[in-house]
Amino acid sequence: MTTPKKIVVHADWEVGTISRHIYGHFAEHLGRCIYEGLWVGEDSSIANTDGIRNDVLEALRKLQVPLLRWPGGCFADEYHWKDGVGPRESRKRMINTHWGGVIENNHFGTHEFFRLCELLGAEPYICGNVGSGTVQEMSEWVEYMTFDGESPMSNWRKENGREQPWKLKYFGVGNENWGCGGNMHPEYYADLYRRFQTYVRNYGDNRIYKIAGGANVDDYRWTEVLMRKAAPLMDGLSLHYYTIPGSWEQKQPALEFDESVWYETMAKALRMDELITRHSTIMDQYDPKRRIGLIVDEWGTWFLPEPGTNPGFLYQQNTMRDALVAAIHLHVFHKHCNRVHMANLAQMVNVLQAVILTEGERMLLTPTYHVLEMFKVHQDAEALAIHGEFGACEDGGKGLPQLTVSASRKDGAIHVSMANLDPSRSADVKIELRGLSAAYDLTSGRLLAADDIRAHNTFERPDRVAQRPFDDARWTDGTLSACLPPASVAVVRLQPRDME
Ligand code: AHR
Repeated sequence: MTTPKKIVVHADWEVGTISRHIYGHFAEHLGRCIYEGLWVGEDSSIANTDGIRNDVLEALRKLQVPLLRWPGGCFADEYHWKDGVGPRESRKRMINTHWGGVIENNHFGTHEFFRLCELLGAEPYICGNVGSGTVQEMSEWVEYMTFDGESPMSNWRKENGREQPWKLKYFGVGNENWGCGGNMHPEYYADLYRRFQTYVRNYGDNRIYKIAGGANVDDYRWTEVLMRKAAPLMDGLSLHYYTIPGSWEQKQPALEFDESVWYETMAKALRMDELITRHSTIMDQYDPKRRIGLIVDEWGTWFLPEPGTNPGFLYQQNTMRDALVAAIHLHVFHKHCNRVHMANLAQMVNVLQAVILTEGERMLLTPTYHVLEMFKVHQDAEALAIHGEFGACEDGGKGLPQLTVSASRKDGAIHVSMANLDPSRSADVKIELRGLSAAYDLTSGRLLAADDIRAHNTFERPDRVAQRPFDDARWTDGTLSACLPPASVAVVRLQPRDME
């Protein structure tokens, strides 16, 4: 038994609303994310609804997916949307040059994407093509999707089977324009952004939230230039950051790692806090009222692809390490909920830090899935202020905290989520809920833990890592006492007595 870490959650101090879009997802035409992972086609022997596989849909519905970004990623700046509408048998076949050099038959296009969002109950977020597209092409896509009157594009949409326009709020003007989206300088992109976004029109009562392509990791100059040149014309500015142990050139395997690589991964995940703080500070100079959202539209782990798979497909396994990376990120996003309006995990199925892996007709839920499922109670909740001791990992001087913690209130109930970053020591914690206005009871707790930091689910053993009740938590006199096993994530629910 170690001395418990003492933490205070201020139940009477709300710091902001945790937008549900912080729990967003990203699905690109990359590897087996869209094709096989989500889309199998109407004629598939795998049970599906309008071509979208039912098992994956059902699992995703349990996550309450609030939002889905599509079609890329790097693919977005090579995607010509007109190739992906109309009768499927006559859609263009082409090479997906960026990802694996495979045939893209365009069977999953605009109509299929909106149907997927509808089935998930998720808000669509479309990323337009600036890198290899034209202003006209982007403008016509918006017209096709959202115009309700007589026009060439809306008539074409009707011919293709969709009478009513869709509602579309989130639209990204290009992706990674500093890299695969055109290798631009920020000054040049800022001008292009100003021009392209002019023609991203609001038709009828549809109102578009325009997202400018933001910085790569710590490129603070990019953020400064974009804000200086285009802030009044944007609603959101993106940021991409991946957790990559080793380096971009020398990535590490997803399943083979020791404690030192574990710590490196945790430290790199925690870096998201610094990145958001610094980008947000620059944004504050131009937008002190925080009207513009920081849109972390790609985050997650990036390891070596699994041996024997197409390296361009970015298929990787997912362990307890990924679960901790997910918990750290979500806690950081909660902390910055006054600036971070959206964050999308990369990617939804079979690519990078996926929540679901598939193999033929089989499917499994990853440890990351479980974290998102346990944490969904924070969606649209009020984040509560937290102070205290978060301990230290025995990490040979890297200075990592042992715990990250977050708390929020929604409809009266308070949820506290905790992550123990230490791979070999449990964490005793006492969390005082200060400022409660009624008597509360501890009504449930969930835990994600395993006997090995490399534990993961396989198609042969899909439930090796799964949630279980969290028995090691007690509630006495307004204080929660808990013991978290090494490398674990937990969520508890505290409910006002009169709600029970
Ligand atoms: O998610 C994989 C790729 O990572 C995306 O296509 C790109 O935007 C980023 O570099």
